[in-house]
Amino acid sequence: MAKTLVIGANGTVGSELVRLLGEKGHQVLKATSKPVTDPAREVHVNLATGAGLPQAFEGVEQAFLLAPPGFTNQDEMLNPAIDAAKAKGVRKVVLMTAMGANADESAPMRKAEVHLLNSGLAYNIIRPNWFMQNFNTFWIHGILEQGKIFLPVAQAKGSFIDARDISAVAAQLLSSNTFDNQEFDLTGGVALNHDEVANVISAEIGRSITFEDIPPEVLRGGLLQAGLPADYVEFLLLILGYFKAGYSERTTDAVQTVLGRAPRTLAQYAKDYRAAWAGA
Ligand SMILES: NC(=O)c1ccc[n+]([C@@H]2O[C@H](COP(=O)([O-])OP(=O)(O)OC[C@H]3O[C@@H](n4cnc5c(N)ncnc54)[C@H](OP(=O)(O)O)[C@@H]3O)[C@@H](O)[C@H]2O)c1
Repeated sequence: MAKTLVIGANGTVGSELVRLLGEKGHQVLKATSKPVTDPAREVHVNLATGAGLPQAFEGVEQAFLLAPPGFTNQDEMLNPAIDAAKAKGVRKVVLMTAMGANADESAPMRKAEVHLLNSGLAYNIIRPNWFMQNFNTFWIHGILEQGKIFLPVAQAKGSFIDARDISAVAAQLLSSNTFDNQEFDLTGGVALNHDEVANVISAEIGRSITFEDIPPEVLRGGLLQAGLPADYVEFLLLILGYFKAGYSERTTDAVQTVLGRAPRTLAQYAKDYRAAWAGA
């Protein structure tokens, strides 16, 4: 099976992708920005500096790329990786951006998409909607400390996707040429507002979690206090504004098309992740 480089291999999408590729018999090379502890299976890549890129693609037939969160210059991080893939004769790159990335040609994520489209490499672009897993990562503190999901999105709905389904789609795209050179907006099966999300999690854990709509300025203060870079905080507020305006509500059949099954539901996600909210 193909040698596959996974950027973001220790993250939410990448770790499950690595597991699934292993199951399918791929030889997987995990990229990490941390010091390498297992050189047979890991390679050092820092997308913020470009360190390690030429070596990482040596002997690689296909690669999964993403830009880590916390940065707003996604094109400056991803374009050199796409160039390195091309230079080393990689056949296919699967790039994960985000749903809506292609709505603005000047957006850094879109520039990276266009760079891949123009590269001559076989490709897939996957654009997931907001992850369900944000409720056990980014938004966990409010849930654990106050039993609340605090977001400036009012009653807008999102077709949240289980990140494990994103990994499964990426694994399938890296295991077959059937869908080469296609782009997929990945969503869950239904759109829910945050009251509905809170109700699903509450039902699973047997305690009441509620949603509180907050002004963007309040979230800005909290994120800055938590140490997030100012430009990334503004990026998050911008895309949460898109959520509030209804742009995250759309559902697609892409998961069904690629995997031949329906996306996981929020109830399934909550059941599988219930331990995350044990202290709520
Ligand atoms: N969360 C959402 O709702 C959502 C929705 C749509 C799209 N997305 C997109 O999803 C992506 C994030 O995916 P994820 O949640 O799976 O990521 P994640 O869990 O945050 O993991 C990203 C990984 O990237 C690695 N990394 C960090 N800095 C790096 C650097 N400078 N160079 C190379 N690697 C680095 C880290 O591993 P090491 O420590 O081993 O380096 C980390 O495990 C972003 O591009 C985001 O825009 C997210």
